Amino acid sequence: MTNFPDSPLTPDGIRALLPADFPWRDTIQVFDSIDSTNTRAKLLAENGAPEGTILIADTQTGGRGRRGRSFHSPAGTGIYFSLILRPDCLPGELMHLTCAVAVAMCNAVETATGLRPGIKWINDLVFGKRKLAGILTELGFQSGTGRVAYAVIGVGINCCQSTEDFPPDIRDMAGSLYTATGNLVSRERVAAAMLLELQKMNGTLLTGRDAMMEHYRKDCVTLGKEISLVRGDQIRHGTALTVDPQGALVVLFPDGHTEAVNSGEVSVRGMYGYV
Ligand code: BTN
Repeated sequence: MTNFPDSPLTPDGIRALLPADFPWRDTIQVFDSIDSTNTRAKLLAENGAPEGTILIADTQTGGRGRRGRSFHSPAGTGIYFSLILRPDCLPGELMHLTCAVAVAMCNAVETATGLRPGIKWINDLVFGKRKLAGILTELGFQSGTGRVAYAVIGVGINCCQSTEDFPPDIRDMAGSLYTATGNLVSRERVAAAMLLELQKMNGTLLTGRDAMMEHYRKDCVTLGKEISLVRGDQIRHGTALTVDPQGALVVLFPDGHTEAVNSGEVSVRGMYGYV
C-alpha cells in the first residue's frame, strides 16, 4: 500500500496557496472523515450556508457517485470536495453545470500537475483508459418559484494511489494523478487550483455557456468514438457525434438517425472498455 505522509491536506496549507483576496478563503472546512461532503453540503445549504462554503475531506465513509453508485474514498490519497453555489436562475439555465465543472477541473489539474486530463461524457476525468476523478452536481429549489436555491458541486479526485492501491473490482479502470504523471502530487496544490478554477467558473456560469461548452467538446474523449448506451436492461450502440449546449450527448445510430441522450437516462461505455 502506498503511503504519502508528505501530501497533507489542511485548511492553512490550502489557504497559503490562495491569493489574499480570494473570496472563499474563510469558508474552507477540512474534515479527517465525513460520511459524504455532498450530503453534508446539501444540509448546510438547506440551512442557509453562504455561497462559497467548501467542505473537503481526507476520507468519506459514504461517498456518493452518480446514478446511486458509491464513490471509493480512502484516506490519505484523494481529495473529496464539495462547494455550495447560489446561482440566481431557473434549473433549465444550469443544464451545462456538470460540463462547466469538468472543464474547470481539467484546468485545475493541468495547473497543478502539468497534465491535462480528458473528459469521458459527462462527468469523469480520465487519463488514457483510467478514471482519475468524478463529479456529482446536485441542485436544491426554492419552494413556490421553482428557482434554484443552491447547487452543490462535488468532486472526488484520486491523487496519490498506485494501481495496486485500488480495490480489485476497479483496478483496471481507476487511475490517479500519481499513476498518470509519475510524480507525487501535493493535494493542497490541487485543492487550491480547484478552488481558483471553480470561483472563475462561477463568475461566467450564466453568461459564458457557449464558450464553456466549446472547451468541453475539445476535452471530451467520448466524441468520435463508438459507444454503448445503457438504459436499464437495454443496450444500444452508436457513434458519439457531439455534445449539445445543454450537455446532452448527440449519438448517430446505425440506421442513420441521431438522438440527443441525457446523462440522467443513460450511461455510456466505450465499445471496448470503460472509456
Ligand atoms: C461519479 O463518479 O459518479 C461522481 C463521484 C463524485 C464523488 C464526490 S467525492 C466528494 C463529493 N461527495 C460525495 O459523496 N460525492 C462527491
